[in-house]
This record gives sequence, structure tokens and C-alpha cells, in this order.
Amino acid sequence: MIKKAIILAGGLGTRMSPLTKAVNKQLLPIYDKPLIYYPLSILMLAGIKEILIIVNKGQLSQFKKILSDGKRFGIKISYLEQIYPRGLPDAFILGEKFIGKDNVALILGDNFFYGQSLTKKLKECVKIKSGCKILLHPVKKPELYGVANITSGKKVRSLKEKPKNSKSNLAVTGLYFFDNKVIKYSKLLKPSKRKELEIIDLLDKYLKKKKLSAEFLGRGGAWLDTGSIDDFYDASSFVSAMENRQGLKIACLEEIALNYKWINKKEVQEAINFYGNCIYSQYLKKTYKLKNVKNTSFWRKWKICK
Ligand code: DAU
Repeated sequence: MIKKAIILAGGLGTRMSPLTKAVNKQLLPIYDKPLIYYPLSILMLAGIKEILIIVNKGQLSQFKKILSDGKRFGIKISYLEQIYPRGLPDAFILGEKFIGKDNVALILGDNFFYGQSLTKKLKECVKIKSGCKILLHPVKKPELYGVANITSGKKVRSLKEKPKNSKSNLAVTGLYFFDNKVIKYSKLLKPSKRKELEIIDLLDKYLKKKKLSAEFLGRGGAWLDTGSIDDFYDASSFVSAMENRQGLKIACLEEIALNYKWINKKEVQEAINFYGNCIYSQYLKKTYKLKNVKNTSFWRKWKICK
């Protein structure tokens, strides 16, 4: 059972400049919460409680301010800085100590997943004992992603990063499950033409050893990668439409933690106080019949000033 995961939340976010000049992309909003809440929620839904977040140099305090050590969600979060975006497999080289002798999952900090039976699928994926498992999903523009060619029996035949003319429309999503050999294999990789260690080269090592398997999100599933400003806008519209229609929040971390009994109602109340008077708090308050934000001396003074 995979119990540890890494969120790769560094990168320069150049395509989103000037928004990303001062703020890490993963802390920008997707509708009503920071982007990082969504990949983190996926790991939590999979039952993973030990998480390493890799951020770029100088941005650690921004993440700690919002996520802290994870206690608020009943999980354990540690952090590492990546000095330069050397490529996705760098996560396993930097995270060697964190991984130890265990198997590990990786999710990219800018990936968004949603859909029916997703939790069930995630819980199956974390069961891998050896090899590697990837999640595939059809896309209109495969040239923007890592792409898998599959056989009629749905086995992966080959993989290619951002192919110019691909016959397959199956993108390799940014959620991967690995055995412990991932550290050793990552260290063997050589930088590609774009001077990065490539995740596809890493997956290829497993494929060549017949140790790679694929799972499919299915038509009822949504996968968005939020690389551009338009992607952010689309993802925000999606979350807004779903949340406002159903009255249920996507990626409400405290809700997931409470449902899994990782935290109790008292801790949710503390979270409400932490967030202050906002829609996210109001949702928690209403769902769990909790109190308003505490009337601390700060709030009292603020009211008097008004
Ligand atoms: O989203 C899925 C795709 O992600 C896969 O289909 C591709 O195979 C994979 O290479 C990757 O492609 P991208 O071009 O989207 O990767 P990007 O460089 O945008 O990085 C994805 C996230 O990882 C982003 O949030 C920044 C972070 N990152 C990236 C690199 C290269 C890091 O934190 N450190 C890094 O060194």
C-alpha cells in the first residue's frame, strides 16, 4: 500500500507571468481555493497521509502560511526546495530521504482531477506493490502532453513526450504510482534536449521491464492541467459550476479529513477560525453545524472602528 506521496509544486510558471512573478502558480486561485488544494485533495482521497511538497527556492514560507505542517487536515506535510526546475523525476532524487524504503506516488501541483468513482480508482492504484501505474485520459491536443500508445488489450505499447503527430489521443496525466526502484531509475536518467530529466524516460524504464500498467479515468472523469491563464479560467468555471449546482465543495480538505476521521469537529471549528469569515468557512460551518468565526478581540476592535 502506498502511504507516501510527493507534490511537485515548483517550476517557474513563465507562461503565467506576471501573475507568477511574486506568487507560486500553485497558490493562485482555482475559483474559491488555491490550486494546490486540488492535487492535495486527490492524495488525501487516496488515503495518503505523508506528503512532501517540493517548491521552488524562496517560496516555502508562502506554502507554510496556508498549509503549515498539515495537522489541520490530519496529515503530515514536509517541504523541500528545488533550486532549479530540473524536470519531474528530480522529485525522487530530492525526495530520497523522505521516500526511504517505501513506494511512492507523485502528483503534479498543477493537475486537477474530478469524476465519478475517482476515489475507488485511487484506492486501487495505491495497492501496487511493484512496478509503476499511470493514469491515462483522452485529450484533443495530445501534442501538449506525454502520450501513450496502447494495444487493443489496453496495454501500453509506447510512450512519447509531446509528440508532433500522434496517432493516440491518450495523455499521461500528472499522477503516478511507483515502487521504490524509482529513486534508482531517476538517478540513471540523462537530461533531454530541453535540458530536463523527463518523466516519460523514467516511465519508459518501467515499460521496457514490463513493469508499467495503465488505468483509465474514463469518460465520466475530468482531468485538467492548469499550465496557462486560459486553463485557470476554464478550471475555475468548472469548479464554480459544479459547486454552485450541487452545493458541495470540490477539494475541501477539512471535509475529506473529517469524513476519513483524521480530524474531529473541534479541529474543523479551529479551521473555520483560521480561514476567517469566507465562503469556504461558511460551507464548513453549514455542513457541520458549527459556530461563526470566533469573536476575538481583533474582530471586536474592527467592528468598533467601523
Ligand atoms: O500534466 C501532465 C503532463 O505533465 C504530462 O503529460 C507530461 O508527460 C509531463 O512532462 C508534464 O508536462 P508539462 O509540460 O505540463 O510539465 P511542466 O513542466 O509544466 O510541469 C508540471 C508541473 O510540475 C508544474 O506545476 C511545475 C512543476 N515542476 C516542473 C518541473 C519541470 C516542478 O516543480 N519542477 C520541475 O523541475
